[in-house]
Amino acid sequence: MKHFTDINDLDREDILRLFQLTDKLQAMSDKKRAKQLRGKTLMQLFFENSTRTRVSFELAAKRLGATLINVDIAHSSTNKGETLRDTLETLAAMGTDAFVIRHAQSGTAEQARHWLGQNVSIINAGDGTAQHPSQALLDLYTIARHKGEIAPLKVAIFGDIKHSRVASSLIDGLRIMGCHNINLFGPRHLMPDETPALIMNSFANAARDADVLVMLRIQKERMAETETPNLDQYLEFYGLTPERLKLAKSDAIVMHPGPMNREVEIASEVADGPQSVILEQVHNGVHTRQAILHQLLA
Ligand code: NCD
Repeated sequence: MKHFTDINDLDREDILRLFQLTDKLQAMSDKKRAKQLRGKTLMQLFFENSTRTRVSFELAAKRLGATLINVDIAHSSTNKGETLRDTLETLAAMGTDAFVIRHAQSGTAEQARHWLGQNVSIINAGDGTAQHPSQALLDLYTIARHKGEIAPLKVAIFGDIKHSRVASSLIDGLRIMGCHNINLFGPRHLMPDETPALIMNSFANAARDADVLVMLRIQKERMAETETPNLDQYLEFYGLTPERLKLAKSDAIVMHPGPMNREVEIASEVADGPQSVILEQVHNGVHTRQAILHQLLA
């Protein structure tokens, strides 16, 4: 594995191997772990906001002993009109083993891969509405930790599916793991035009007997103002409330990639409740990203 730009580049065995590597690195002594990527350099370029993804890649790299540079895009020469390609080629000339890139434009990571050839690893930290493969891996890992085998599960995903790279990469990842029982529900105009999952006609029909419920934020930044649903009424029609949670299996887990909008897509009582694994996702995000970096660079 040289790049990590699309979850569809992986098969079931690759994903299971990354799960094993996640556990192995977690069990390793701090001292031994800190030698794994000694001498390696990573550069992070985030053209969109991020808390979880950026910080967890940084922690993962540092815990493995790599050097990580956060390129300050707001103060970089892209503001002087330099193209992304020139910026990347300039930074690559300084010497880096990998770029971690988040960009609003779908396909940016694939582009970078094409521009930089085989010299540098490209890690996609989210491109437009297309892919967010490290999020898919941490979500799959979290599901597997709770439920074991992923294939027989029923998974329901709610909200703005159309603009969510988290949803599209998770749907792809679930299918790679053999899980095909995937329901979607949300405002009709925020459902994808094409999907291998089932678009349901009500929250109840999507959630009934589900093992996993995934809630998503409305991606206001990716839609016209006229497309934005009325957020005051959103919880009532589309959000996960304690009553709606009862439709799912009694041991169902509740997931959210963050950032959450409390009392919009999810009631606080559910987000902070016993079935929520939202902070576990964040925790697992550091460990699964260690595995990704190790697999690419060690
Ligand atoms: C998501 C993203 O950036 O796609 N956040 C994340 O990486 N955890 C989801 C979102 O922004 O809603």
